[in-house]
Amino acid sequence: MDPEIRIELAAPDDSVEIGEMSEADIEYGLPWRWTPPRIARAIGNPATNVAVARGPAGLVAFGIMTYADEVAHLLLFAVRASRRRSGVGSALLVWLEDVARVAGIAKIRLEARQDNAPARAFYRKHGYREVAKVLGMYCGIEDGVRLEKDFCAASDSRVKGANQDAARMDIADIVKDNHVRFWRYRQGRLYYAVFVPGRSAEYVFPVPLSELGDITLESREEATRFLRYIRQAMDEGSFVPMPPDRPAAA
Ligand SMILES: CC(C)(COP(=O)(O)OP(=O)(O)OC[C@H]1O[C@@H](n2cnc3c(N)ncnc32)[C@H](O)[C@@H]1OP(=O)(O)O)[C@@H](O)C(=O)NCCC(=O)NCCS
Repeated sequence: MDPEIRIELAAPDDSVEIGEMSEADIEYGLPWRWTPPRIARAIGNPATNVAVARGPAGLVAFGIMTYADEVAHLLLFAVRASRRRSGVGSALLVWLEDVARVAGIAKIRLEARQDNAPARAFYRKHGYREVAKVLGMYCGIEDGVRLEKDFCAASDSRVKGANQDAARMDIADIVKDNHVRFWRYRQGRLYYAVFVPGRSAEYVFPVPLSELGDITLESREEATRFLRYIRQAMDEGSFVPMPPDRPAAA
């Protein structure tokens, strides 16, 4: 992928461009539902992640994922036509998957238009299985195909180095005069959060429980003491933005 492209959470100002891309690239031939005001609500919704890929000339791709208790739903996803087949879609999808994994999501689900062969090929390439046909899903005009991908617990620590956003961060800027706070425990790992000034957002990283040593579960600790774990998370692609809140299981 073009090294100048950066993946990050969307800003409210992105809602117009994202809405227009959705109308042209995803909802063509259908009533326009993902209008800018609806996108703006998704950006402000704490249970939803709207991620964008941005280059020097502006927004090149976006993806919207919402989180339930165990399942995340990829609602919308598109790459600008001029930037397709260069790995941007893959990088953005992996970024969203990384956040979902850290959030403890067991499955990602999505639907594609039956006639959308490129998208179906793209998701299959990323390990999604076609599990059902959804008749008349798109306003009765077109059928849909439901796809799913399961994440097993072991994949939580998988190493792909795919999170290129983290690779571009300066770890010294992150730890300098900064603190981490304990976020939660899950499957033998303690997750801590640290504010990343360059992204104006909190990122999380794991510390294996077995390596806790003299680090305590205090709510605030000096970030320099966690440098090694932050670096490790950056290297393995598990240094990701704080996952959105998830509603309690029904
Ligand atoms: C589907 C889409 C997101 C793919 O984005 P992309 O940035 O082009 O994807 P990548 O470059 O990361 O492609 C990764 C792999 O997916 C598969 N793939 C992607 N586009 C494909 C196409 N048009 N035909 C066949 N396979 C395709 C290929 O295996 C590709 O690897 P390769 O280029 O080495 O052969 C993009 O075509 C798009 O935005 N389409 C319009 C909107 C849309 O359909 N969104 C999905 C709604 S559910």
